[in-house]
Formats: sequence, structure tokens, C-alpha cells
Amino acid sequence: MPDPAEWWRQAVVYQIYPRSFADSNGDGIGDLPGITSRVEYLRQLGVDAVWLSPFYPSALADGGYDVDDYRDVDPKIGTLAQFDEMVTALKAAGIRLIVDIVPNHTSNRHEWFRAALAAAPGSPERDRYVFRRGEGPNGERPPSDWTAQFGGSAWEPVGDGQWYLHMFAPEQPDLNWENREVRDDFLKTLAFWADRGVDGFRVDVANALVKDLTPPLPSQAELDADDLPDGVHRLLDRDEVHDIYKEWRELFDRYDPPRTAVAEAWVRSAHRRARYASPDGLGQAFNFDLLLAEWDATEFRKVIEENLALAASAATSSTWVFSNHDVVRHATRYALPTGIDLKAWLMGDGATPPPDVERGLRRARAATLLALALPGSTYLYQGEELGLPEVADLPREALQDPTWIRSGHTEKGRDGCRVPLPWTSSGPSFGFGTGPAHLPQPAGFAELSVERQEADDTSTLALYRRALAQRRRLQTAEGLEWAADTRDDVVEFRRPGGWTCITNFGDAPAPLPRGRVVLSSAPLSGGTLPGDTTAWLEPTD
Ligand code: NOJ
Ligand code: CA
Repeated sequence: MPDPAEWWRQAVVYQIYPRSFADSNGDGIGDLPGITSRVEYLRQLGVDAVWLSPFYPSALADGGYDVDDYRDVDPKIGTLAQFDEMVTALKAAGIRLIVDIVPNHTSNRHEWFRAALAAAPGSPERDRYVFRRGEGPNGERPPSDWTAQFGGSAWEPVGDGQWYLHMFAPEQPDLNWENREVRDDFLKTLAFWADRGVDGFRVDVANALVKDLTPPLPSQAELDADDLPDGVHRLLDRDEVHDIYKEWRELFDRYDPPRTAVAEAWVRSAHRRARYASPDGLGQAFNFDLLLAEWDATEFRKVIEENLALAASAATSSTWVFSNHDVVRHATRYALPTGIDLKAWLMGDGATPPPDVERGLRRARAATLLALALPGSTYLYQGEELGLPEVADLPREALQDPTWIRSGHTEKGRDGCRVPLPWTSSGPSFGFGTGPAHLPQPAGFAELSVERQEADDTSTLALYRRALAQRRRLQTAEGLEWAADTRDDVVEFRRPGGWTCITNFGDAPAPLPRGRVVLSSAPLSGGTLPGDTTAWLEPTD
């Protein structure tokens, strides 16, 4: 029996973007009671844990990643009591809960930021954020030419010659992690949720908290030149950030079982990423390499090999992910030609080229079965179990992502993967709620609804359910052994206990290894594995 404290090592974690999951009161916004009402669905799906994207009070300048208060629930989507009810229901179903923590920035409505604006330059209130005097006699120009992630300057003036730093939207002022009060307050927040029964934390932009702001500030061009002379980036992935996570780990380890954490750290090398996952740090880190890889056997094999080795060297397990609330859904990515500029494609409402929907879904199903057979944990994003595509033609007036406005309407952003789930094939929002959803769903969602797929044994939902059930049965130790002499366009490996996973990335059918087929992502014919298909086999003895 594996150590219960290690539950996360090979877990299947399902990401819920709460405002788009299920709406219990018909106001068009998904909410916590909506999640509670769907716990049975999650249990039947067979996930080990849920990762809940931010549910804190927020003006939604960035989909909830602009937090007004870290120790409360957004009244638009529930109450603390409803949070507790949700935890109780999840626990009763044997599902653990990971919540999102956003430590790099608060919202501009957070009480600290309000106090900072009301206080004088140089005050302790301002020291919790990153305020700097602007350039020019009256500080009328920004302290540097840095650009924010969503476009525009990364500095915002406050009217007294001072500017504050925001690496994301202006509504997301960056915190100053040199300030002890900031560190202590986050420890308090982590304990607050851990005491409420939360099992782990997903740490937003975990690599950005510590910044070197020693004057003179470098230019954006210097930042873009990436590694500065000492080999460390000035604003991201600095070594000192790990001191923060050591303190977090001490807190996590005071709980039984210890709380877990997973870093979102888009760092430049897999090697640097492994440091976030160390046992005296957060313990695990997202590995986006498969998400970024093309549908190509050689690329997949390399990513898998490298990440398994790195995870082992950091005494952690690897993570696998294809979709989340920030990227074009993988069923759509795989439906498009290799190397396509996805942002430009979205700007054309997904019309040119038209996606090859059937091929995209076929590959997405094969990819998911492959990842679910790997040692480590797999993160699924709500709706991928329905094979949902990216909604590329959302009306422009419906867009909510700050990217759309901040880019001057040149980039649409991430709303296309955040469209509310279809639960039924009819109704004003396909069963998401009793009224229209906060982002409009396309007519094609009827066919993809849970209701339709539950009635179809060949559906993507049925495949995910079977895969998770079989994985639970088959998965034991974390080893992996590559098969010898496979074709270049085939990936094949064996797991402890003798089960095999084989994926054919090519077009020509591939021979199947010996064994009994447990599951396949598409029907098999004539004892061979068709193109764009994965199969799991177990020994017949
Ligand atoms: C990463 C989150 O996943 C994304 O949605 C958010 O916009 C940024 N961090 C800023 O918090
Ligand atoms: Ca609601």
C-alpha cells in the first residue's frame, strides 16, 4: 500500500475553472454549490483530486487571478460555508482538493493596496508593493520601459511621481517579497486553507516572486536578452525564491498528511524547473513540455525521458498536462497544421485554416491515454474529458480576457478555452445553469454534452472514465521501460506489473505487442494499431 502522504505522486488532478463549471443559481456564473452538485460526476470520472482555480473575492480583471482577499470566497460564487460543504462532499467521494494561490500580485482592490495608495511615498504601506520614482523632474515617465504580460507598460503612475510595478494587468500590483509582513501573511493564508481541509496548493507564477530591482534598472531589451552575466534573470527564476518555498514547506510538513504544492513556473529549462519541485520546496512543478510539443513521436519520447530523469533527480514525480485555462485546448491544437501561429489563427476566428476536428480529437484522445500511462501525475482541464474544442469565434464584445484590451485588440486571449461546460444537450446554457452562460457556448456543444456522451459507449467521456478506472487498477510503482526496436513514429513502453502503452503517431498501422488489449483510444482492426491511436495492453500469462 503506498504511503498516503505520497498520494500526489501519481494522482490524476482535474482542474476546475469555477466560473465556467456549473452555475447553481442561474446568474450565468459558475459557483461553489454548482461544483458540490457535480461531485458525483467527478467521482464517476475517477479523478483523485480537484485543482480549483481562484475563487476569492475579485473584480475579475484577470479571471480571478486578481485577488482582493486571500482568506474569503467571492460572494458572486459562494460563501466560506459553501466552500466547507464542497470540501466535505469531495472528501466523502474520496477526492482531494488543491487550491490556487496567487502570491506574485494582489488585486488593486486588496486592502493593502488601498492603504498603499492612501499612504505617502516611502511609507511601510507602500513597501508591501514595488513602488519606484518615475524618470524625469517630476517622475512623469515610467521607471523603466518594461512591458507587462498582457501588453502595455509594466508600471502605472499614482499621481505623486511614484509608479507601481505590475507584471500582469494594472489591476494586479506586484507584491514586494523582501517585506517580512508579506511573507508572514501568506503563511497565514496557507494555514487558513490547510486548516479548512485543503490538501495542496497550486502556486501561480511561482518563479516571479523575487526580483532584483537594484538600480539602474535594466531595459526590456536587456531582460529579453534572457540570462544576464551572472546567469540569472533579474525578474524571474531567481535562486532566492526558493527560500520562500522552504518556509512554506516547513508549514506544509506540520500537517498530517503533509500538504502538497505544485509550482506554475514557466522557466526556461527543465533543469531549473526541477528546483521548484524539490522535497524541501514545493514538491512538484508543472511540466508544460508535452503541451508545447508537436504531435511527434521523437519529440514526445525526448520530453518523457528528460522529465522522468529530472523528476527522479529532484526526488519528485513528473507532471503531465496538455490543456489548462491559459492555452488553446489540445483537441484544437492537434487539429491544426504543425507550427501554426495560434494567436493569429484565433484573430481570424479559427476560420483559416479550418481545423480538422476529427483528426484533432483522435490525436487528443491518443495523447491523453499516453500521458495517463506514464509514471507521475496527470493534470486534466475541465471539458477535455468531453473532447471540447477551443471556441475560436467568440463574439468580440463577449471577450473578458485582459489581453484583448491591453493588446489594443490585436490578441484575443484565453476566453476560448474558458467557455462553460455543456451538461445537457438543450436548455439556455446546455445545463450549465438555468440562464445564459457568462460566455456564449456554440451550438456544437449540444453534441458534446455530458448527457449525450453518457449515453454513448464510444464517447470521449466514456474513454476517460475507463482509462481512469484501469489506471487505478494497473498503476503500481513509478518505473518505465522503453520497448526495443520500435518504429520511429511509435512510442511504446512497459510499466511495472507488465502493462504496456503503445502510441502510433504515424499513418501506417503498427503491429501490436503481445498481450490483452485493455483499452484503446480508437477502434482497433486486424490486430494492428491504426495511426493516431494509443492502446494499453496487459500480459496474458
Ligand atoms: C498564470 C495563470 O494561470 C493565468 O491565468 C494568470 O493570468 C497569470 N498567472 C497571472 O496571475
Ligand atoms: Ca451562479
